[in-house]
Amino acid sequence: MTIHVKNNIHWVGQRDWEVRDFHGTEYKTLKGTSYNSYLIREGKNVLIDTVDHKFSREFVQNLAAVIDLASIDYVVINHAEEDHAGALSELMARIPGTPIYCTHNAIDSITGHHHHPEWNFHPVKTGDSLDIGNGKQLVFIETPMLHWPDSMMTYMTGDAVLFSNDAFGQHYCDEHLFNDEVDQTELMEQCQRYYANILTPFSPLVTAKIKEVLGFNLPVSMVATSHGVVWRDDPTQIILKYLEWADQYQEDRITLFYDSMSNNTRMMADAIAQGIHEVDPSVAVKIYNVSRHDKNEILTQVFRSKGILVGSSTMNNVMMPKVAGMLEEITGLRFRNKRAAAFGSYGWTGGAVDRIQTRLMDAGFDISFPLKTKWRPDGSALAECREHGRQIARQWALQPLAVPRSNTTHATAVTTATVIATPIATNDAIAMNNDRGMLCTVCQWIYDPALGEPDQLVAPETPWAAVPESFLCPGCGIGKEVFEPCTVGNRK
Ligand code: FEO
Repeated sequence: MTIHVKNNIHWVGQRDWEVRDFHGTEYKTLKGTSYNSYLIREGKNVLIDTVDHKFSREFVQNLAAVIDLASIDYVVINHAEEDHAGALSELMARIPGTPIYCTHNAIDSITGHHHHPEWNFHPVKTGDSLDIGNGKQLVFIETPMLHWPDSMMTYMTGDAVLFSNDAFGQHYCDEHLFNDEVDQTELMEQCQRYYANILTPFSPLVTAKIKEVLGFNLPVSMVATSHGVVWRDDPTQIILKYLEWADQYQEDRITLFYDSMSNNTRMMADAIAQGIHEVDPSVAVKIYNVSRHDKNEILTQVFRSKGILVGSSTMNNVMMPKVAGMLEEITGLRFRNKRAAAFGSYGWTGGAVDRIQTRLMDAGFDISFPLKTKWRPDGSALAECREHGRQIARQWALQPLAVPRSNTTHATAVTTATVIATPIATNDAIAMNNDRGMLCTVCQWIYDPALGEPDQLVAPETPWAAVPESFLCPGCGIGKEVFEPCTVGNRK
């Protein structure tokens, strides 16, 4: 089966309605997904990407019904992960000498997965092009870490189609292929879920890459992703949406999540939420029990929020394990520009709340005061929880809030031991300070000015501002644009 995309481009991919897990069980694909592969028949016949390995046989069978496989001139692999390059072994067994165009990193990944170093690889870099006849070319754009170090996009001149692979995609299955044909609410929900759960850590790179691509001033009539829809109606909408999401995104929204042994922490969550809503009815407030709700939905809500409240009962003097797991994920997603605080019920020591506060601070949140309640909250404790919610609502308000007269007394009665993280200094200020390092926000490698980077002829004691713009992170190979100021070792 094929679907006509544009002129001589056809979709030859695979829908997967029933898949429910991705990346092991870390990402729940509640709406299924698709693996989009494209066949271009111009002067040359070109296959862009394949499908997931579990559909290898069906994919090659379907493709052979559409085109004589031996007449495929080039295979382009934008990304080596098994959901896109998975059918290569089955395909290349039929056309073993066909040139494969991919990044240098992808040769390593593809060989590591398929164990065929003899395949006819042609490594490409950003700006390289391939003539496919009829006056059209494929232009390659490396996009490392979107989603793997080997990722790239392929732009087809003439038809102005950007084959973007993972970027701008969604885990979303529909019999329709184009963005204007599907339920818009479902579509954008899945786009945001995908971004929040997969791409958030790479937001600085998303911004830099999109600006780089826009800098080419190429017309884009379609964005042909490798998961979900092809964007043909206003295709730049998803590019602009990515720019918005990558820019420390937040809405006027607060998310509470917790785990609760005896319902006591749940009672606290409800009362805190009531207090928030009472003072600021305009803020969206959502509550989730991590034991009962979809993890990826909670992480998406965190992504959307200006602040989060994380609760746990104290168990063996630590937090409950599912809360710890969520905090580990949140740390890895490297959210920025968000507030947070801990809460929870305890019986003896209340160690969970202290540990959550520390973990939130380590994860880069601006920390507000925590709240503990001993045993089951009674009427007085619940009143304190509601007052805590009112305080949070005022402190986290995006605009000044009117303080109702009836709340004034309470507002001053509760301790507000707020701890705000030290603001990050500006890049310019740091760049001139030779005592500070620069952190690669993609792979966490740190540039230490005292050491320089001898492999790139950057001498010791070279401040960041003097490091050449051609500098590439030794850890992940990405440029200066993804670095942020940080401290180095014990120096300040
Ligand atoms: Fe859709 Fe990174 O694979």
